[in-house]
Amino acid sequence: MNDNASADGRVWRLPTRSGEYAVSAAPDGSGLIMVGWGPPEDQQPWKEPVAVYELDPDTVPTEYSAAGTRHGRGAELIVDHGEGLIGARLRLDPAQVTVDTEGPRSILRAVHTDTTGHLRLTCEIETSRDHEVVAKRVIAKNTGGRPLTFPRLFSAGWQLPIGPGARIDYLAGGWAHEFFEHRAVLPAGEFSIGSRQGITSHRYSPVVTVSALDDAEADDDGPCYSIALAWSGSWRMLVDAVPDADRVRVAGGIDDETCMITLEPGESFETPASLGICSTDGPDELAREWHDYQRGRLARSRGVDHRPIVYNSWYATGFDVEVDHQRRLAGIAAELGAEVFVVDDGWFAGRTNDRAGLGDWVPDKIKFPDGLGPLIDSVSEAGMRFGLWVEPEAVNPDSDLFRAHPDWVYRAGDRPLVTSRNQYVLDLGRPEVLAWVGQTLRDLLADGRISYLKWDMNRPVSDGGRPGDDHGRQWSVQHARGYYALLHLLRSEFPHVTVEACAGGGGRIDNAVLALTDVVWTSDETGPRDRLAIQHGFLSRYPASVMSSWVTDEPDKLDHDPASLGFRFAVAMTGVLGIGSDLLGWDAETRSRAAELIMTYKQIRDTVHNGIVRRHGHPRDPLYASEFSDEGRSCLLVFGRPGVAAQPRIRPLGLDPDARYRPNGGEPITGASAMTEGLPVRWSLASDADLIILERLR
Ligand code: DGJ
Repeated sequence: MNDNASADGRVWRLPTRSGEYAVSAAPDGSGLIMVGWGPPEDQQPWKEPVAVYELDPDTVPTEYSAAGTRHGRGAELIVDHGEGLIGARLRLDPAQVTVDTEGPRSILRAVHTDTTGHLRLTCEIETSRDHEVVAKRVIAKNTGGRPLTFPRLFSAGWQLPIGPGARIDYLAGGWAHEFFEHRAVLPAGEFSIGSRQGITSHRYSPVVTVSALDDAEADDDGPCYSIALAWSGSWRMLVDAVPDADRVRVAGGIDDETCMITLEPGESFETPASLGICSTDGPDELAREWHDYQRGRLARSRGVDHRPIVYNSWYATGFDVEVDHQRRLAGIAAELGAEVFVVDDGWFAGRTNDRAGLGDWVPDKIKFPDGLGPLIDSVSEAGMRFGLWVEPEAVNPDSDLFRAHPDWVYRAGDRPLVTSRNQYVLDLGRPEVLAWVGQTLRDLLADGRISYLKWDMNRPVSDGGRPGDDHGRQWSVQHARGYYALLHLLRSEFPHVTVEACAGGGGRIDNAVLALTDVVWTSDETGPRDRLAIQHGFLSRYPASVMSSWVTDEPDKLDHDPASLGFRFAVAMTGVLGIGSDLLGWDAETRSRAAELIMTYKQIRDTVHNGIVRRHGHPRDPLYASEFSDEGRSCLLVFGRPGVAAQPRIRPLGLDPDARYRPNGGEPITGASAMTEGLPVRWSLASDADLIILERLR
């Protein structure tokens, strides 16, 4: 137990599932300091620092600080009062700290004031005994008489007891290669990742995991701290390793390069949440803690209803959507065992390619002379739900919507508009635009026959803004909030509709999106070996239960290594399986094999979606596996590459050593012997893929 105490002797301890987050009032009265995180026996006491050539507030590990309070080190907040006054001198009276407890949840609120009297800043810290996540946010209120602007208004700072220096693990990549694991070693200095694009971005996922530099060689065994942002607009996260300091600061929030928040007198602003986990048992345990939170707290359910097996026609037809062709695809998809048939891009008015039609969300009269009804009838008769692709935030210049409302898109002063994928972005910060998009969605879903939407967003916002409106500098905040409002509308008015989030693949995936959608389209790359590598990184921070993954045809445009049908299915089976192939090109044998594989998936999917995932090695290894375990069984999806041993064995990682298991219906074996001796890989799915199911015997 940490025995540091604040000047008034008070320590506030907020319980998590297996530990606590403990804060105290800083001795200098400038705010809260973190004095302990994790199981009490593992906490690092805070050492009173020695201030040499620094002022006191710089040496204190304040939870949240302003430029003007902290001078020599980075601050979470920068406020501009006008007339040349920048910054704030924050004060916290311990009497202004309250803790509310409701069931398993605890929320601490600490109300800070600025000595000018212009600003009130409430820091919130929330924990729950149901999971390990600590959620922090701040609410800034203008209590003065003139506008305040905030060049920076981050969500949180985290003062981690791991310095000097840090090892940083993060996920980075780009379109079609999202979520690759990267590691940076930072002995001293600042490390920063983010997005300036108005969406989360393909480049970086908003989560960093930091641990002590000493652990860099030992690899993965010491305590680590994983910090994420639940935000889908522009953002920035930084790790600040001050030379020789025993605390490393992680901070982040709304991007401070592209966004300026303005608060008129009396107005308040609540930041998005920053989420943190302290984990002491290595990367699989950390993944499990994130997944528990995402499945148990963020997702609306754990069942399969909102993570069905989808057939999606995009890879089979592109923009050439034609009603009879779609009907024939639907007939085969139903025979295979698909549960939802989704018509992707190309179904709406004028959409023969990506240069026209976005914004005109009515069925194309040439492609669907009698509307969508006849196709929906066929899909329903075949026993499937019906779904559509939409991209509600975007508009093509060649569309009736843009011709009617050219002022509805983001504009930066007089700068010429810039298209990307031939489209502009609708300004969701304008109430009339948001209302129009909401009504369009209502009209589309009104008759209750569409129960799945794939919501795409195919360009970043390159030039946000709204001429003449000070709040226009907040475009990326307004856009993200508009997007959330529309997702809320879908949840509340159309709860039967499953929403798959997509942004040109994995361009907008984060913990806020996971709270408002059901599944996410992880990447546009479906080549199975590339996809396996993308999914490997994804599963380290996000759960299999949201990871939409389709079987598609070869050759893939990017991944030229051949892989069997069984391999391609096994890749999709490690998440929410879907099919994107041109089924009319599949012969009877392929279809029958696919139907068997889908049946097999249905038998294991509850374990895949809700079990604990453990990753064996890396997909580039000759033998790789994803293992999913729940109380009743473990399922290993095993993948081979050229160079794999002739008769490989694989050691499960997640069995109970004392329990007995039946591997693939064979002779019982103890968990201990399976884990030490390994199990033979029999390549039961194909010559390069296997599925091993270990049922636990009672
Ligand atoms: C990008 C998505 O990621 C694809 O799956 C597909 O829906 C296209 N957009 C359609 O334009």
